[in-house]
Amino acid sequence: MSSGNVTVIGLQWGDEGKGKVVDALAPSRRYVVRYCGGANAGHTVTVAGERFALHLIPCGILHAGVVNVVGNGVAFDPDCAAEEIDGLRKRGVSIGPDNLRLSGAAHVVMPYHKLQDSLSEQMLGEARIGTTARGIGPCYADKAGRATAIRLGELTRPEALLPKLRRVVEMKSRLLTAAYGAEPLDADALAEKCVAHGRLLGPMICDTGAILRRAGAAGERILFEGGQGSMLDVDHGTYPFVTSSSVTACGVPAGAAVPPGAVGYVVGVVKGYTSRVGAGPFPTEQDNEIGSRLRERGREYGTTTGRPRRCGWFDAVAVRYAAELSGVDELALSLLMDGPGEIDTFRICTAYELDGRRIADYDPALPLERVSCVYEDLPAWKAPIGSARSFGELPVEAQAYVRRIEELTGRPVGPISVGPDRVQTVVHNTRLEGLG
Ligand code: IMP
Repeated sequence: MSSGNVTVIGLQWGDEGKGKVVDALAPSRRYVVRYCGGANAGHTVTVAGERFALHLIPCGILHAGVVNVVGNGVAFDPDCAAEEIDGLRKRGVSIGPDNLRLSGAAHVVMPYHKLQDSLSEQMLGEARIGTTARGIGPCYADKAGRATAIRLGELTRPEALLPKLRRVVEMKSRLLTAAYGAEPLDADALAEKCVAHGRLLGPMICDTGAILRRAGAAGERILFEGGQGSMLDVDHGTYPFVTSSSVTACGVPAGAAVPPGAVGYVVGVVKGYTSRVGAGPFPTEQDNEIGSRLRERGREYGTTTGRPRRCGWFDAVAVRYAAELSGVDELALSLLMDGPGEIDTFRICTAYELDGRRIADYDPALPLERVSCVYEDLPAWKAPIGSARSFGELPVEAQAYVRRIEELTGRPVGPISVGPDRVQTVVHNTRLEGLG
């Protein structure tokens, strides 16, 4: 079943530029599938100078002939989906059961999840996780807890949904008023909204796993689109400063209801440096002038929250770990700085140090906030790279930088993004079709 399938994931702390890679590969795939996360993700794709910011709907929606699937592993916010569908339709993108399929087993993010997310963060104060406030953690907590969870398919069955919703809202209301002093929740208003969402989304809700397994058996090609980044994975990331789902390639089978062999060829997207939003350890962070320059150059502000991202040097220790974890076949490199200007030297972290001990390999048990970095310095390039269309057209310093990333991670670098537009891509060491 794996022939021709591709999984695109982030290998850092999110915002690696996965959207552009997915967008390039989507036209040659029949299905583009989200299997993790929810509206906390934000993929930005630029088509003919027009910027599309997508949160829940897979990027393949911008291509004719692609069926976009939201799998069972997604935390699905129907308010956000309705808004996104409406916005895309207004811009001339047609959306219906032909090109969008939603799993009835995806869990619904309710307004009380978002409220709980914000209130919990407020109460945690300095100890907060720095979430996107999209209700992701509380929704997945309900999924694991079972008793108060609601799945997307339930929105299409009002006779069963309404009594259940009343019960759940009553429990949530008691919890939120007692724990956080919140206002009581309005069950009737929420019920009305849920039924309306069920009507709007109903035609697209189905057993997406069955569709994907049949498609695989028929030899149709599937692209799995990861959300967030591997270091934010609930099991393997910098816990507890992570998101609440399985975002690596290991999350694909469970989150899309396909066998492990369906994962196919794994592309790990990395930025030429590192960014992170929210709290948590970040060994290569440059909380200084360098970090500000990286942020301004890379326009490092959250697609979902607008928050300025923390920026730092490329961490080859973390990327090598993430690449091993997902069995990454090749890297896609994005945001290779376009003439980094005042920056003379690019640094790459090749190992950590803790209490005088050198640590070459990432270990999830490491107290990451206490490690220092061993850096290797490489000369930065000064010439703009935005118009390069082949590896040889990149400045020699940029070529050396890419080769060093390949050596340190043990993975070839395939596509290299040299700017936001679709055409601004250099194809280097790839086995992927459909790039460029
Ligand atoms: P949550 O997923 O909203 O619960 O946030 C948990 C952590 O994951 C926070 O540090 C967020 O900033 C981070 N996070 C969640 N989604 C993304 C993303 O798409 N890009 C970058 N960071 C993210």
